[in-house]
Amino acid sequence: MAVVRGKQIEVLFSASTIARRNLELAKEIAAREYHDLLVISVLKGSFIFAGDLIRAMHDVGITPEVEFIMISSYGAGTESGEVKVLRDIDNDVKGRDILLIDDILESGKTLKFTRELMLSRGAKSVSIAVLLDKRSRRQTEVEADFVGFECPDYFVVGYGMDVAHAFRELPFVGVVKGEA
Ligand code: IMP
Ligand code: MG
Repeated sequence: MAVVRGKQIEVLFSASTIARRNLELAKEIAAREYHDLLVISVLKGSFIFAGDLIRAMHDVGITPEVEFIMISSYGAGTESGEVKVLRDIDNDVKGRDILLIDDILESGKTLKFTRELMLSRGAKSVSIAVLLDKRSRRQTEVEADFVGFECPDYFVVGYGMDVAHAFRELPFVGVVKGEA
């Protein structure tokens, strides 16, 4: 249990557990033998995971280009299905292997939209890596190719993920339990 901002936070996935898993994920990605890989980090929640995963990818010999896209998200618990691009990538994706990196796959709306956008622009393939899969909340047919951990149906924070922009700095993934 950690105390941050006067709240008790239960650790769900520790920093060392995540680091070990990131290296395994990098090896799984390396085994696919992508050609001319373009990694796209889906902001904002994926920024820490993407930063760690691409360095783990370097450690296993992958040399991707890296880009960022910001997609609007209505967060957990809302039923709105509207997804749109707030900040687009600069690169041309035509004919390229793309790896989208995001923090959580929940309803799947964000990643379904982003994958279809890249395919419509002529990407050769679009794979998906997520730190967490909240499978029980899925509303679309989207599946990730690389999953760090199956996530229980809690609202989680840390390692890039927030509540109202707070708690992103935590080096672990946790659940807010209430006042400390
Ligand atoms: P969806 O798959 O389109 O429903 O959207 C998933 C996005 O919602 C993720 O990329 C996160 O930004 C956000 N999200 C979903 N669940 C959580 C959570 O438990 N904590 C923080 N953000 C979440
Ligand atoms: Mg997100």
